[in-house]
Amino acid sequence: MSSYQDPQWQQRMAVRIDFNYMLDRMIGPERGLRFDELKALQPRIQEVHREIVDKTGKGNEFLGFLDLPYQDEAELARVQEVADRLASMSDIHVVLGIGGSYLGSRAILEALFSPYRNELPREARNNRPRLYFEGNNMDADAMSALLDLLPTERPTSPSRDVTVNVISKSGGTVETAVAFRVLRQRMAQIYGPDAASRIVATTDASKGTLKALANQEGYDTFVIPDNVGGRFSVLTPVGLLPAAIAGVDIRELIAGARFMAERCKGDDLLTNPAYLYASLMHLSYVAGRDVSLMAAWAKGLEFVGFWYDQLCAESVGKANGGRVPLTSVNTRDLHARGQQVQEGPFNTVVTNLFVSEFQRTLKVQPDEGDLDGLNYLAGWGLAEMQACAMEGTRFAYAKAGRPSVNVHIPAVNAFTLGQLFYLFEVATLAEGYLQNINPLDQPGVEEYKKFMFGNLGRPDMAKYRAEFEARPERLDEMIV
Ligand code: PA5
Repeated sequence: MSSYQDPQWQQRMAVRIDFNYMLDRMIGPERGLRFDELKALQPRIQEVHREIVDKTGKGNEFLGFLDLPYQDEAELARVQEVADRLASMSDIHVVLGIGGSYLGSRAILEALFSPYRNELPREARNNRPRLYFEGNNMDADAMSALLDLLPTERPTSPSRDVTVNVISKSGGTVETAVAFRVLRQRMAQIYGPDAASRIVATTDASKGTLKALANQEGYDTFVIPDNVGGRFSVLTPVGLLPAAIAGVDIRELIAGARFMAERCKGDDLLTNPAYLYASLMHLSYVAGRDVSLMAAWAKGLEFVGFWYDQLCAESVGKANGGRVPLTSVNTRDLHARGQQVQEGPFNTVVTNLFVSEFQRTLKVQPDEGDLDGLNYLAGWGLAEMQACAMEGTRFAYAKAGRPSVNVHIPAVNAFTLGQLFYLFEVATLAEGYLQNINPLDQPGVEEYKKFMFGNLGRPDMAKYRAEFEARPERLDEMIV
């Protein structure tokens, strides 16, 4: 039995929410939340719960993500099989995707591996390839820099062999599609007719140009289910395939999500972690805190913060409202945002992603002469110092009437990561319903595309080009 299947280990690894520092007793009556205010939200949470369980809420055609922790073993086995095949035939693996088709897999990789993973020898990468992420912008320098890394002809050394995973639910996202065209042409140059066996596509079951192209070229494909939206898709092959290629135990990730799903089944906001987090954020927002800062107290969790930024912003940023999510890494950003959280406007709520146990221990050693004056720290581990910094920071915030909530992560591993993904997804859904908006669509994202495609000359977007052309004239005096 793997440790993640052991119920005692699972309990030890349970992600917990500590909301002490949201309450009036810690941050003062003027700014703090009263416990009875929180409990008073319970009837509303019950309504939200019914909307979710009965699938009667807005956007209910996209609730498939709720069931992903219970997905079929056969699907996971296929992901693993293709991942192992790609890993064995390449040492450079490129993942193309943007938004929900990018951030989750990047978050998994950044959290679970060394920040210098790509620089390690293959043996230190468990015999899995280096991973590169592109197709998430139209930056000529970044894309060219990736091309510089790739061979131009069939490599003689396996360390130069390449595979590609293109991810796009719609199959038509221009950033990803253009990057894929560039990569497809390079792959054809390198491998000729064998290129197709080195490319895998994750997309819709039947719709979109990527699906048609994959069928035509004979790529292996994975399906993003119709009822799962992009930013809720990390536990589909969108996130699982890149993770498995890098050597993550995807069953542990799913087990973690399932563990959290079980904890999120009830309708009691004080015991369901997702409803609790949603309620805290909602009440905080209603009280005027429209900025929310996710502070990762481990560098590897920065991309969990970016993943959450997208999940939150695209889900609740509607009807001229919704919290503005930001990500920081502490203690790094205490030397930047810390000032504003402490003394700026009273508009921010902080979520600390706090890790208790790091994989490695590093202690301050005594130093003869003590020229740097640090001998008082001799024997301290960096992890313990980090804990002192976090406790000191939240206390300092509290003294100034600034609320914070801790998401306590016993250790960073696939199991706790799976819990975090599921926790924040359900919390975001519930928060959207508390706000009476549809948290599962993103109509605003389409707006920029109309004018971008109009300017790019896409024939069906000509009217947007005309609207753009009719904009007020730019005045030279306004350009300094
Ligand atoms: O959450 C979403 O739906 C979006 O962020 C999408 O994931 C993003 O726009 C990428 O779309 P696609 O996978 O269709 O290329």
